[in-house]
Amino acid sequence: KTRQQIVAGNWKMNKNYGEGRELAMEIVERLKPSNTQVVLCAPYIHLQLVKNIIKDVASLYLGAQNCHQEDKGAYTGEISVDMLKSVGVSYVILGHSERREYFGESDELLAKKTDKVLAAGLLPIFCCGESLDIRDAGTHVAHVQAQIKAGLFHLSPEEFQKVVIAYEPIWAIGTGRTASPEQAQDMHAAIRALLTDQYGAEIADATTILYGGSVNGGNAAVLFSQPDVDGGLVGGASLKAEEFITIVEATK
Ligand code: G3H
Repeated sequence: KTRQQIVAGNWKMNKNYGEGRELAMEIVERLKPSNTQVVLCAPYIHLQLVKNIIKDVASLYLGAQNCHQEDKGAYTGEISVDMLKSVGVSYVILGHSERREYFGESDELLAKKTDKVLAAGLLPIFCCGESLDIRDAGTHVAHVQAQIKAGLFHLSPEEFQKVVIAYEPIWAIGTGRTASPEQAQDMHAAIRALLTDQYGAEIADATTILYGGSVNGGNAAVLFSQPDVDGGLVGGASLKAEEFITIVEATK
């Protein structure tokens, strides 16, 4: 594919410091050079260490799993985009369904966070996806399109070009039940059609759209071979270096 392919590992709240070091080192050892960008989205406390481990590998990038929407100040426990940038973060996951569900992150808040990330010169991985109820009701395309409009469509074309979108059906996250390749392709095509309406075909065709939800070493190749699937946002399977590398190697 001509679009940038990306595989991002979202470690979520897993791995202590030593375990994180081991995982990052094993990924560096096993990774073969390719044009696919590989992003390690480690917990905040690991970021500096992981950056030191991956810094000489051209295809490896550091990612954060969240950020705060303000520049700085009295927000106990929070992390700013400037802090992330200062330790070498390139990508920031925004609007993961776990953040939306357990931490009440709204579309409006995510629009603000997107602005902060872009203003700092970092790259958002903007997550969207529907619950099983919405899928069963048949309104999943409208739901996902509404999330993207609300979170991103205030951006100028120049700003939007920096955004990576990740489609993650909530019913497929951590459940072992992945979307079928057709379900993933249909949604990715619907997202790209929406982007074409808003930003034109050139920008839409160049936008990387990742699939996430129970991606593993066995199903990655068929998912990534879909024409509008440009890689993956991987949770559980990113915690094992060997399987994660198998997934990276499944990009085309
Ligand atoms: O960010 C990653 C996704 O939530 C997918 O997680 O691969 O464990 O299903 P999973």
